[in-house]
Amino acid sequence: MKRAKISIIGAGNVGATTAHWCASMELGDIVLLDIPEVGDMPKGKALDLMQASPIIGFDADIRGTSDYADTAGSDIVVITAGIPRKPGMSRDDLLATNAQIVGKVAEQIRKTSPHAIIIVVSNPLDAMVQRAWQVTSFPPYRVMGQAGVLDTARFRAFVAMELGVSVEDVSAMLLGGHGDSMVPLASCSSVGGIPLTQLLSQEKIAAITQRTRDGGAEIVKLLQKGSAYYAPAAATAQMVEAIVKDKKRLLPCAAYCDREYGVGGYYIGVPVILGKEGVERIIELSLLPDEEAAFRKSVEVVKGLVQTMNKLARS
Ligand code: NAI
Ligand code: 2OP
Repeated sequence: MKRAKISIIGAGNVGATTAHWCASMELGDIVLLDIPEVGDMPKGKALDLMQASPIIGFDADIRGTSDYADTAGSDIVVITAGIPRKPGMSRDDLLATNAQIVGKVAEQIRKTSPHAIIIVVSNPLDAMVQRAWQVTSFPPYRVMGQAGVLDTARFRAFVAMELGVSVEDVSAMLLGGHGDSMVPLASCSSVGGIPLTQLLSQEKIAAITQRTRDGGAEIVKLLQKGSAYYAPAAATAQMVEAIVKDKKRLLPCAAYCDREYGVGGYYIGVPVILGKEGVERIIELSLLPDEEAAFRKSVEVVKGLVQTMNKLARS
C-alpha cells in the first residue's frame, strides 16, 4: 500500500517537531519545506531525522526542501509557516504578518497539491485557517486548524497533575477560538468516566480552566524565545494520524461552521469526527447557559479578527 505523503510547511520548531512525531509514528513519507532564505536548514533537519530512523525503528522517506515541486501531490499539508509570538505578545499580534505568509503558502498548495487535506497551525489560528480556506477554495472539510487538541491536552495534563492520576484516564472537550476566549467545557470533562465536577471543586476547575487559557503564554514566558512546540506538534501529529488511518477520532478542531452552532461561515473550535475525508462531521453539543455565552463571545472575537484580516488583505 502506498504511504501517505505529508508535507510540512515551515521547518521551524513546530514544523520540525511535527515531522519528528509523524516519522516516529510511521504516518507516511515527509517533506519539510521552508523559505530559501534559511538555506539548507530543512535538508539538514530532514537528514538528521532520517538518521534517527534506525535507532527508533521507523521507515519513512524524509526530505528537506524550499521547492514546492517536492511537495506535489501531498495527501496532507501541515502549515506551520509564520512567526511565533514573543513575551508580552498575544497570538492576535501576529495577524498581519502571518496572514501574508499563510496566504502565499496556501496559493502554492492550491497549485501543487489540489487534493490535499490542510491542517493549519500558524497563529492567530482561527483566522489563519480561514485565510488558507479562502485562498485555496478547497472544500471546507479539507481545511482545518489545530488548536483544540493542544488546549484540551493542557487541560488534561493539569487535571492529572492536580488529582495525581494517569493522563490516559482524563478526557476533556473545549470549544471556541485558540485565544484568551477559548471555552474549556468542564461539563464534558471526566476522569475514568467520572464527571470532573465530582472530583474537583468549582474553584479548582476554574483555576485549571484559566491556566489552560493562559497555557501558551505560560510557555512563552518560560522559554523567553519562541513559543511552545512539543505539545503543539504532538497534537498536530494526532490529527494527521486520525486522517491517515481513517480513525474517525472525535477531537476538537477548528472547523468551518456555517449553520453549525449558528456561526455563519467562520472557522472555530468545535468537536469533529476526523477521518480520511478530513472533517467528516461536526458534533453539535447542547451547552449550559454560561458555556453558550462564553462560546458566543469567542465566536465574536474570531469574527473580529477575520474581518480585520480581510480589510488588511484589501488595503
Ligand atoms: P518558528 O519560527 O520556529 O518556525 C516558523 C518557520 O516558518 C521558520 O523556519 C520560518 O523560516 C518559516 N517560514 C516563514 N515564512 C515562510 C514561508 N512563506 N514559507 C515557508 N516557511 C516560512 O516558529 P514555530 O514555533 O514553529 O511556530 C510556527 C507558528 O505556529 C507560529 O505562528 C506560532 O504562533 C504557531 N503555533 C500555533 C500553535 C497552535 O496550537 N495552533 C502552537 C504553537 C505555535
Ligand atoms: C500555544 O498555544 C503559541 O498558540 C501557541 O502555545
